[in-house]
Amino acid sequence: MNKRFDVIGIGNCSIDLLGFVPSFPRSNTKNKMIKFIQQGGGPVATALVTLARLGARVSFVGKLGDDMFSHFVIDEFVREGVDTEGIIKEKDAGPYIAFIVVEEKKGSRTIWWTDQMVSRLRKEELSKDLITSCRVLHLDEYDVEAALLSAAWAKEEGIKTVLDAETPGKKELLPLIRLIDFLIVPEEFALGFSGAINVEKAAEFFLEKGPQVVVVTQGERGSLTVTRKKRFFQPAFDVPVVDTTGCGDVFHGAFIYGILKEWPIEITSEFATAVAAIKCEKIGARAGSPNLEKVRDFLLVFGSERMKRFLKQDITGC
Ligand SMILES: Nc1ncnc2c1ncn2[C@@H]1O[C@H](COP(=O)(O)OP(=O)(O)OP(=O)(O)O)[C@@H](O)[C@H]1O
Ligand SMILES: [Mg+2]
Repeated sequence: MNKRFDVIGIGNCSIDLLGFVPSFPRSNTKNKMIKFIQQGGGPVATALVTLARLGARVSFVGKLGDDMFSHFVIDEFVREGVDTEGIIKEKDAGPYIAFIVVEEKKGSRTIWWTDQMVSRLRKEELSKDLITSCRVLHLDEYDVEAALLSAAWAKEEGIKTVLDAETPGKKELLPLIRLIDFLIVPEEFALGFSGAINVEKAAEFFLEKGPQVVVVTQGERGSLTVTRKKRFFQPAFDVPVVDTTGCGDVFHGAFIYGILKEWPIEITSEFATAVAAIKCEKIGARAGSPNLEKVRDFLLVFGSERMKRFLKQDITGC
């Protein structure tokens, strides 16, 4: 199977405007920030950057315009080696914008976001040839109509599908979940969407709907992976955390890397957990996302015995 891309992603790309403050001020006051950073974000877009850094051939499909934010997103994709041929240009379209206030003392973050510039992909704008020119299709919850059609095409062509979702009340995601092979979602979504009393029951709920693999991520605790034959918990790595923005997005990218390599699921899970942990050592969703060599070095020190044995065989690029 000689596909042009390893992974195509369709979904949210955003600009994260991160302001670091000592603590939340009273309203109607002027306050100097400790630090300000502008970075690209969004579940699918950041997962693609993670994959590109690991060495995969990736492409983003979406709609952007001619404003400075759209240019920022595209320039960052180009710098990171994410293909942009599938980006449709539309006047006045733009990315999601997120204002992220990081309270340094508490280490907490509060996010305001807007989609006022976002223009959804229409069905007739999607190219089946392009979307099926990959081995794995990565989707999120932000363009359900485009995701549904693309996932159906992927299914026809035997292309693996991965979904990230985060809004528990978005019941319209169910038809999409039925078409997904790898559902990787945070605990809050898993519990809220399924109504289950714990993550094990939530994972079973989703497995019955169609996915072969369900991963529920649980922040600094780690993640639960459930398939029809296996169930295991992978603890997170204990690292000096600077910022957890985008941990889930990076985890998805790294997990997809393991899918591409057809690694055993336990290796894939530990690898993704390591990549997400390394990300936490730098500020923002993308800055800390590592290359393969850095992940290997990390796992050779902090990985399980099974992982160390595995690394001695081979983890090279795609
Ligand atoms: N503080 C942390 N230290 C180490 N690893 C972490 C930490 N937080 C998250 N991770 C790793 O990242 C994975 C995904 O994190 P999380 O469950 O918070 O995703 P999320 O809620 O989707 O995050 P995002 O805000 O990026 O959408 C976890 O399963 C874990 O392996
Ligand atoms: Mg997430």
